[in-house]
Amino acid sequence: MYLSCVMRYALISDIHANVQALDAVLAEIGVRGEVDATYHLGDLVGYSSNPNEVVARLRDRGIAGIAGNYDSTVATDYKHCGCKSESARQEELAHVSYEFTRSAVTAATKHFLGGLPFSLDLRPSGGHTAGPRLVLVHGTPTLNTLYWTQDRSDEFCLKMAAVVGLKSGDVIAFGHTHKPWQRIVDGIHFVNTGSVGRPKDGDPRAGYVLLDLGDGTPRIEHVRVAYDIEATIAGVRAAGLPDDFIEFLRTGGQPAAVGA
Ligand SMILES: [Fe+2]
Repeated sequence: MYLSCVMRYALISDIHANVQALDAVLAEIGVRGEVDATYHLGDLVGYSSNPNEVVARLRDRGIAGIAGNYDSTVATDYKHCGCKSESARQEELAHVSYEFTRSAVTAATKHFLGGLPFSLDLRPSGGHTAGPRLVLVHGTPTLNTLYWTQDRSDEFCLKMAAVVGLKSGDVIAFGHTHKPWQRIVDGIHFVNTGSVGRPKDGDPRAGYVLLDLGDGTPRIEHVRVAYDIEATIAGVRAAGLPDDFIEFLRTGGQPAAVGA
């Protein structure tokens, strides 16, 4: 049974300028008709060709969210996107994507990215009664560039939870790695939402999370949505971005040439 406040969330992260994937996810959320609020977890831009369109969609729909490393580095003219590269080729591609994005974003988009907060602390019960908190960060509560991968220890998870004072029954959601996973440690729910626009787990479909806090026991569902990937690829090609990015989209982040 739902309480009187907003309790069922859609969490979308790492859209990365892939407006076709975003549109498919938003349509799927709309068809469900059971989502009270949608939030994004950052990395709106980078790698694909439509950063301004992605930001416009979120603005038009009033979808609030937080800054990913790509958003804050573009907004502040930082020297690098803050993405970790595992090879010289990946580092080269990271620079190509970053320079393209910096040249493609409008002043309005850049301004919007600069206004995104580092984190959100959602308290659906208003804090007036005991109830779950939902904290949203891009990477971790300490850095939006730090990768919170599934192989992190329980101790690491609890250390991060302590940074924001989480208790049993609370939820912290994050993205950044583009690989979805979830775990419960000491009653605290840890949720990596995966990526809408650039999945890296071998499944090319857009990924997001439905989170239901309705009865006080968090229920988490990882959802995958097929989208018009050829339209995204056409945009990447038209923008003059490397074929590597096309292969990445087609293979869900596991192209043979450059590894995962
Ligand atoms: Fe990302």
